[in-house]
Amino acid sequence: MPALNHIPPEIRCALDYETQAPRFIAAPTLAYIEGGSGHDRSVVANRAAYARWAITPRLLRDVSAGNTGVTLAGMNMAHPLMLGPVAFHNLVHPGGERETVRAAAAMDCPVIASTQSSCTLEQLAQSAGPQRWFQMYLQPQRADTLDLLRRAEAAGYGAIVLTLDAPIQVASLRTLAAQFQLPPQCVPVNLAGYTAAQEPAVAAGASRILQGLMAAAPSWDELRWLVGQTRLPVWAKGVMHADDALALRAAGVAGIIVSNHGGRSLDGAPATLDVLPAIRAALGTDMPIVFDGGIRSGSDVFKALALGADAVAIGRLQLYALAVAGALGVAHMLKLLREELEICMALAGCASIEDIRATALFHQRDHH
Ligand code: FNR
Repeated sequence: MPALNHIPPEIRCALDYETQAPRFIAAPTLAYIEGGSGHDRSVVANRAAYARWAITPRLLRDVSAGNTGVTLAGMNMAHPLMLGPVAFHNLVHPGGERETVRAAAAMDCPVIASTQSSCTLEQLAQSAGPQRWFQMYLQPQRADTLDLLRRAEAAGYGAIVLTLDAPIQVASLRTLAAQFQLPPQCVPVNLAGYTAAQEPAVAAGASRILQGLMAAAPSWDELRWLVGQTRLPVWAKGVMHADDALALRAAGVAGIIVSNHGGRSLDGAPATLDVLPAIRAALGTDMPIVFDGGIRSGSDVFKALALGADAVAIGRLQLYALAVAGALGVAHMLKLLREELEICMALAGCASIEDIRATALFHQRDHH
């Protein structure tokens, strides 16, 4: 069904956009969006982790001067929500990313534009608000990476997000079973004219994965080179281990995004929520952390902040809201998430994001 130009009455909370999405997205496309790599183990883990934590109500606290504002590496945000990088929004709406980022701008929500967007980064920037970052993959040719970087700088993006957790593409069994193929309008227009990755030849008996594809994967040298090429802060996305976080900081990255690619890369990776506390503990309080994976409600946001995140990025939920009601749906989804977060703050006695950060969650060991 094409997107509505009103909010359907069934939508009462942010999660309802996921529930309603199957009415608006064809089954094979939905399998591609929902599915993770392999058996969806990490997709399931991301969601399940929230149920192991609870938020304890606190009484008689004055939150009447409360607000959701937060400063992330010098960027003043009205609330701790961002839209994370998600490829090809025109899969679910003909307006694509331009529709999504207009809504985000109206809701004071920073966006991270994907390299694999269905319009160019320049077009996207024209519809987006001032708080926009650009997500990059290192290209096979340094000259192409540099060109992409210079274009992002020229188009006014405020930070570069380097996604490091997907050096090889992993098949999703659900997507294969649904026989999904990207439609012809989903082409990475940002990369037009650049040299595409080519599978290197491997000697007989050698591994196609290890000696072939991974031999061409990004390295620490490449990362340090990129950091040295730009004045923009460079963030690393896909961090799941404290030692990687520390090494990335030492290599000059400005912040990290704790993420397992929404369960779409290493199937069997832990839930992002479960690794967050150790990464925060290793980094201390100075290094900014954005978190993603399974955020579907304001209480999920609260829990991620309480366990160490400074802000969270929304993945799939933005495509679901876009499919249901276009820009209106995306704006409404963000409004609902923010209100759900505010309700948690009010009832947990938190007047600020700092208060949430200082809150100890209740661990529900025996939850089923
Ligand atoms: C993604 N993600 C992603 N990440 C990235 O760095 N570049 C990209 O182009 C994409 N594309 C993409 C497409 C689709 C369909 C999905 C579902 C995800 C990962 C994304 O940024 C984020 O890490 C996860 O989506 C977060 O998990 P949730 O919120 O979807 O559960």
